[in-house]
Amino acid sequence: MVSPVSDAMIRLEAVTKQYPGTMTPAVDELSLEIPEGEIAVLVGPSGCGKTTTLKMINRLIEPTSGEIVVAGERVTEMDQSELRRGIGYVIQQIGLFPHRTIAENIATVPKLLGWDKARTNERIDELIDVVQLEPEMRDRYPAELSGGQRQRVGVARALAADPPVMLMDEPFGAVDPIVRSALQDQFLDLQHRLNKTIVLVTHDIDEAIKLGDRVAILNVGGILEQYAPPSDMLREPANAFVADFLGSDRGLKRLGLLPIRNANLEMGPVVAPTAHPQDAHRVMEQYGVDWFAVAEGKRLLGWAPGTALETAPDVRSIPLQPYRTRIDVGSTLKEALDAVVSSRAPMTAVFDGDDYLGMLSADRISREIVQ
Ligand SMILES: Nc1ncnc2c1ncn2[C@@H]1O[C@H](COP(=O)(O)OP(=O)(O)OP(=O)(O)O)[C@@H](O)[C@H]1O
Ligand SMILES: [Mg+2]
Repeated sequence: MVSPVSDAMIRLEAVTKQYPGTMTPAVDELSLEIPEGEIAVLVGPSGCGKTTTLKMINRLIEPTSGEIVVAGERVTEMDQSELRRGIGYVIQQIGLFPHRTIAENIATVPKLLGWDKARTNERIDELIDVVQLEPEMRDRYPAELSGGQRQRVGVARALAADPPVMLMDEPFGAVDPIVRSALQDQFLDLQHRLNKTIVLVTHDIDEAIKLGDRVAILNVGGILEQYAPPSDMLREPANAFVADFLGSDRGLKRLGLLPIRNANLEMGPVVAPTAHPQDAHRVMEQYGVDWFAVAEGKRLLGWAPGTALETAPDVRSIPLQPYRTRIDVGSTLKEALDAVVSSRAPMTAVFDGDDYLGMLSADRISREIVQ
């Protein structure tokens, strides 16, 4: 069996950085493993050593002690320029060259690598398309783009030589929340296709939870408080610092990561059209409600109040109202909870396309949080 250690694309072993003339280390005995094709997010307060950690991975900064291994090789033993070409780097504050056009900025690494003009141009066009910029932006200067567009140029530049490893320092930091969210979605979409091993730095815990396969929470002094997949961390924060950093809506954040697909659905107060009125009374009692729904196989036919049973001879002849509180199975439990709390129904019906799968109540959803 392959041990998880040798699977790691990036491995930090007790890495420490103490800048000359400082009392405390910027990074203190940091150990982390990032498996190939995953996104690890470093998050923590300003000055906790995030940028220092990134820069040690591509040796812009030399560690004081400890070991960093990328793709099985110790970075201290690798040729520096070769190492950096194999690692795309998106620097904090984007750092585009202001007197170079967008095309020239993107071509920075291909130029260093001595690619010919045709190949470089082809790659520029390809990347402009990948990060969803307009072809006409090629010949503009960074000052002639919006903040969000500049961020995308920064990402395109880092991707230029198709490096297997990307280091991204607050890549979406300088834009408003809406553009930021759109850039994050694009980024995840891109990552599904490109499968890079990525270390991404952010201040924003929600961004970390959304983007990270694993999240490392750092504290001032470069101390690692916890390193775990976000849903594990939300369920079980290692200590008070982590719990505090995750925020008081930790349970809701976790629900936002849990797909309905993996949840245990309820039968709900649902009967078949062939059911006896007594069956309807029984399910209403079981769920403590005064309404019931009718489903025939995978078709949810509708619902009726319990009082409808008083006058009808059987379930089939009861006029049904459409069941409007519904959610797709591809949504998260947070969205399901939202469907419940923003409607009057105590349960949301779950559908896969037109197929009815079952019900979810707020109570059921809250039980999924602790699992
Ligand atoms: N060249 C340097 N010399 C001395 N101290 C430094 C140097 N660079 C960074 N530091 C210190 O090391 C610590 C970590 O800095 P770093 O830039 O890694 O933090 P960060 O987590 O990226 O912060 P931010 O979120 O503000 O970008 C800080 O206390 C900083 O002042
Ligand atoms: Mg920084």
